[in-house]
Formats: sequence, structure tokens, C-alpha cells
Amino acid sequence: MSGVTIIGTGHYVPGEPVTNHALARVMDTSDEWIQTRTGIQQRYFARDGQGPSDLAVEASKNALDDAGVAASEIDYIIFATMTPDHFFPGSGPLLGAKLGISGIPALDIRQQCAAMPYAFQLANGLVQSGAAETILLVGAEVHSGFMPWTDWDVVRSEAEREVTAEAYERANRHRGLAIIFGDGAAAMVLRKSGAPDGGFIGAELHSDGDSFDHLYVPGCGFRSIPYVTPEALAAEEHIPQMRGPSLLKKAVKTLSQTVKSICETYGVSQDEIDCFIAHQANDRINQAVRQALRIPPEKIPSNIARYGNTSAATIGILTDELRRDGTIGEGDLLCFLALGAGLNWGAALLRL
Ligand code: UT7
Repeated sequence: MSGVTIIGTGHYVPGEPVTNHALARVMDTSDEWIQTRTGIQQRYFARDGQGPSDLAVEASKNALDDAGVAASEIDYIIFATMTPDHFFPGSGPLLGAKLGISGIPALDIRQQCAAMPYAFQLANGLVQSGAAETILLVGAEVHSGFMPWTDWDVVRSEAEREVTAEAYERANRHRGLAIIFGDGAAAMVLRKSGAPDGGFIGAELHSDGDSFDHLYVPGCGFRSIPYVTPEALAAEEHIPQMRGPSLLKKAVKTLSQTVKSICETYGVSQDEIDCFIAHQANDRINQAVRQALRIPPEKIPSNIARYGNTSAATIGILTDELRRDGTIGEGDLLCFLALGAGLNWGAALLRL
């Protein structure tokens, strides 16, 4: 039976790249530390007033062009983000309006960096059930809103000055988190594959709320009345807390296990997989997974150097680049894998 497949992709990143050197102006870090520990060289940041739905519009137009599909043919939007334009409503309906296709169902999903394996399963279910025919799947993030510095002009190299000791110390408290994230959007147009046995094969998904404190926003949630207070902001509770080293170990272990297990479940040998499209949180995670599973380096591509970790957008940006440069194409067997806050993690198999 054929499943849902990718018929068009696009991505968009805002503004000019911000280098590691630029971040070293507002906190105690260095290009050398960031590159060695993560593989990241630069990332992009949206401007104040630019939400994920704005980035998603551009990515979606690129994906629709690539697919040769008119916006009016889309009959379902799945919007993955952990940094929505507004607390509510979700960004999906906003994207529909900005594309001129208000009226169709639009769903936000909150699986953070692990969104894409979840989204492929969801999209496949919608198409198989007849609820949708042509789905626009988007991942878009504006992490800038939780960055710990105030001197954006210095970060963007628009001003050259020393930041205050107070601002420097504040940013520094969050440096492990701040250096890995960047903004961006990716879109995919999905339809049922025309090839027998083509498209989505299956997914293996997991969540573990016991480990939610590995990466979460402590404040500004509805456990608190009111949900945003000056005290919470002063205590920097709107900035995510991340247990980086523990998360890194969990990611390596769970992702390696999940890939082995999904291959077993669906009777696919690891060697048959043409490309492993992995979330890009830290290059060390993917290198360790590669070694644990003995994957040849060319089969697990990386683009983290140019974008950092763009959470729900990452897998879509990488998929778009790989399709456009010809690394992946029709008939290829792909394995998507990702872990993110929740914790959520999983893998999905799809034959293009
Ligand atoms: O996408 C969602 C899921 N997220 C992840 O999967 C993230 C996984 N974790 C990571 O990517 C890594 O843990 C980080 C990049 C966040 C941190 O790298 P690490 O190698 O685990 O460093 P660490 O936290 O163990 O810190 C080592 C040292 C510490 O100094 P001391 O105590 O040894 O003196 C840190 O204070 O490096 C220091 N450090 C930094 N130094 C310069 C932490 N962040 C920085 C920094 N620049 N940005």
C-alpha cells in the first residue's frame, strides 16, 4: 500500500547570518568552543515583529512552487512549532490566512525538535482516512524571543560597543542554550505516493514526561495566575532551561535504539536506507549515532554549521537542501530521526 510522500519542499531563513564571533561579544563564549562542541558556525535570527507564520509563508511559497501545486489545492495545514506567533491561537490558521486559503483545517503540533517523525505519521493517517489529499506540512521557529541578551544591535554587528557587565552576566547564565538555537522555517507538500509501496512506511514514536525538565520553559505557563508576571521575567523564567549534557546522552542512546527498532519492525535492513535525515541539535549527537549504528558518513548529512538548531524546522530545511542538490531523489528510502523537548523522540521511514 502506498503512503504519503513529499512532492515539494522549500525553506526560508530571516536576515543575515550571525556568527559565533558575534555571540562572543555578548557573553563568555568563543567560535572555537562552539564549533568544537556543536559543529555550529552561524545561525539566523528573526526581527522583532516577525513571527514563525511569516517565515513559514516564504518557505511554503517555495515548497508550493517546487511541487507545482497552487495554494488553493492545499486542503490541510500541519504547523509544527514550539515558538508560536501567539500563545493562542496556533500559527496554522495564521499561515492559512497569509497564503489566502483560510477555511481549511489547520493544526498546530507541539513535539518541538521531534515534530517531523510525528507529523509524517499524522499526515499519512489523514490521507489514508480520506480526510485530506494535499497537506502543507510546516516547521517554523523564532527562538529569538527567548534569547538571553538585550543588545541585539551588537549581536547583529550593527553596533560596536561593550555591553554592560549585568547584560553580559545575564546572557552568560544561558550560554549553553543560547549558542545552539537559530530561527528558520521549512515546508513540505505531501500527497499519497503514486508508486506501489512508495511514500510513508511507518514511524516509531515515544514520549517521556518524566524527563520534561531536560528542556522546558519554567515560567510563563498557565500553572501561574497571571501566566506572565514581572517577577517571572525578572527571574528569567521565560528562558528555557536545558540539561544539555544529559540530553545529549539521552539523544544518542534513544535515537540509536529507535533506528534499530524501526528497521526491525518494518523489515528494512539498515543498509537499504539511502539517507538518514537527522535532527540537527548538536553534530556530536549525530556523529555518535552514526558510529553506534556504523552508518557511512555520507548517508547522514549535516547542515548544522549554517543554521544551528532550528527545532521543528530543522529536518525540513535539510530535506529541502538534499532534494535540491540531488543527494536524495525519487525511489530513495529515507529514515528521519529526532529527539526534542517533552521529551519526544522517534523515527519515520519513507520511500520518496
Ligand atoms: O534540540 C533539542 C535537544 N537539545 C539537545 O539535544 C542539546 C544537547 N546538548 C548539547 O548540545 C550540549 O550539552 C551543549 C552544547 C548544550 C553543551 O555542551 P557540553 O559539551 O555538554 O558542555 P557542558 O554543558 O558539559 O559544559 C562544559 C563546560 C562548562 O564549563 P566548566 O564547568 O567545565 O568550567 C560550561 O560552563 O563548557 C562551559 N560552557 C561553555 N563555554 C563556552 C557551556 N556553554 C558554553 C559556551 N561557551 N557556550
